[in-house]
Amino acid sequence: MNSAVETYPPDQRPPSLPPIQSVKLTVNGKETELKIAPWTTLLDALREYMDLTGTKKGCDHGQCGACTVLVNGKRINSCLTLAVMQEDAQITTIEGLADTVNGSAGGLHPLQKAFIEHDAFQCGYCTPGQICSAVGLMNEGKVRTTADIRELMSGNICRCGAYTNIVDAIEDVMNLKTA
Ligand code: FES
Ligand code: FES
Repeated sequence: MNSAVETYPPDQRPPSLPPIQSVKLTVNGKETELKIAPWTTLLDALREYMDLTGTKKGCDHGQCGACTVLVNGKRINSCLTLAVMQEDAQITTIEGLADTVNGSAGGLHPLQKAFIEHDAFQCGYCTPGQICSAVGLMNEGKVRTTADIRELMSGNICRCGAYTNIVDAIEDVMNLKTA
């Protein structure tokens, strides 16, 4: 077995990535230019560089859904995408959700209200991801039954086990009467 480390002559070395680059993100309707390493995830860009800490880091590798945000209206795990890949996108976090519906600051999104009314959280750590995911779910238009909600929200884990009330809250907003 050849265990020798491959080396390049100085004039044939691949270019190294710059540690810092300029990335323009549009988050909650506001454009911001960040100077970040090109491998910075969208999650870290939001939390560490924009102080949008409503988006939570649970597993950091696509397993828990705590980091869910909306990109052009679709729900994604922000820990699984690089910030630089979302330069032309409209990103919505839990902080901007109310404004996207009401057009002005101050009012809560109907899902935020429903989560409060149905007591759909305990520690609240998963809640921003649950709510953003539920908005994405509604945008997808695939839900016909309560079982669909359970299935299509299964990527969002709640360690407190508030699932029953989370489903009730989403069901309420969707005006879903089926069992
Ligand atoms: S932090 Fe992204 S899925 Fe868990
Ligand atoms: S409310 Fe605690 S993890 Fe969901």
